[in-house]
Amino acid sequence: MKTIAFFNNKGGVGKTSLVYHLSWMYADLGLNVIAADLDPQANLTSMFLEDERLEEVWSDNGHEQTVYGAFRPLLDGTGDVAAPHVEDISPGLGLVVGDLALGNAEDELSGQWPDCLDRKPRAFRVLSGLWRILMAAGKSVEADLVLIDVGPNLGALNRAALVAAQDVVIPLAPDLYSMQGLRNLGPTLRRWRAEWEERLERRPGSIVDLALPGGEMHPAGYVVLQPAVRLDRPVKAYGRWMGRIPDEYRLSVLGESGSLQVTTKPDPNSLATLKHYRSLMPLAQEARKPIFSLKPADGAFGGHTAAVRDCYNDFRKLASHIAARSGLAMP
Ligand SMILES: Nc1ncnc2c1ncn2[C@@H]1O[C@H](COP(=O)(O)OP(=O)(O)OP(=O)(O)O)[C@@H](O)[C@H]1O
Ligand SMILES: [Mg+2]
Repeated sequence: MKTIAFFNNKGGVGKTSLVYHLSWMYADLGLNVIAADLDPQANLTSMFLEDERLEEVWSDNGHEQTVYGAFRPLLDGTGDVAAPHVEDISPGLGLVVGDLALGNAEDELSGQWPDCLDRKPRAFRVLSGLWRILMAAGKSVEADLVLIDVGPNLGALNRAALVAAQDVVIPLAPDLYSMQGLRNLGPTLRRWRAEWEERLERRPGSIVDLALPGGEMHPAGYVVLQPAVRLDRPVKAYGRWMGRIPDEYRLSVLGESGSLQVTTKPDPNSLATLKHYRSLMPLAQEARKPIFSLKPADGAFGGHTAAVRDCYNDFRKLASHIAARSGLAMP
């Protein structure tokens, strides 16, 4: 079972939309998929679930069916992680339901991180909690793949979520903020990887039987989200930033050396440059379907028909690229 996180500390670069569409696509291609919403904003969950269902899973005395519910006994100190609920979305696609309350785990995850170095068993239980929840969810549906959505920050919750990921896909936008974001993101990922490795070496003997994540966080590549074309304000800088992404990624994320150069050659680390699908995205959200499954009855008629078909091909290609980069076997 592969675990792939979609991560960028820069917000609004299309992480959640990517996880949503790729989850449907991989399921369509015949894989058993878990979409895991580890962002306390829970946007992925609200893309998948109808409002009535959201009300049920997020009711006041609820949480039992969310990722927070599975984590809570461990955070409260009343037990270990509970068996997670997997929301059945469609054949081959299940959701680990997000929860605003997951933000409550931030302090505990932050506090327990140094305690791993003191070889405290509870610290290892807490830091591996999210990973163990995802593994249990995956196992319960014999998943081939877990796609993880996280929020846009470099906090302790995301560190634990990333420790749970074998591969990381980095969505970004061709602009100054994304470029600066990569300069924080790259070194942070490398530091988290090294620090988790250091902690694994200090695992206490009393928890030899506790399964722990490897914390590989292997950068699988980046996906560029094209800006919406605005007729009133052409995006002049677009080409310039596009040209700078390959070297910035190589230097900041892969930690390779060399000076920054502008290049026009195809970049092996580029997984896709995704179109801005404009009005199709709100249509998809309204219909609670991926863009590539929209029908005329959903409002996708006329010129939209070709765009829907192109979208299917774009995501199919992207799914294959990610699979190839992360060693995921496709049916
Ligand atoms: N390819 C696309 N075409 C059109 N709109 C898109 C596309 N990708 C994302 N969007 C829109 O851009 C906005 C931000 O996307 P999304 O929520 O996926 O980003 P995010 O990186 O998950 O944000 P956050 O950092 O807040 O979690 C949303 O309104 C979404 O509908
Ligand atoms: Mg998001």
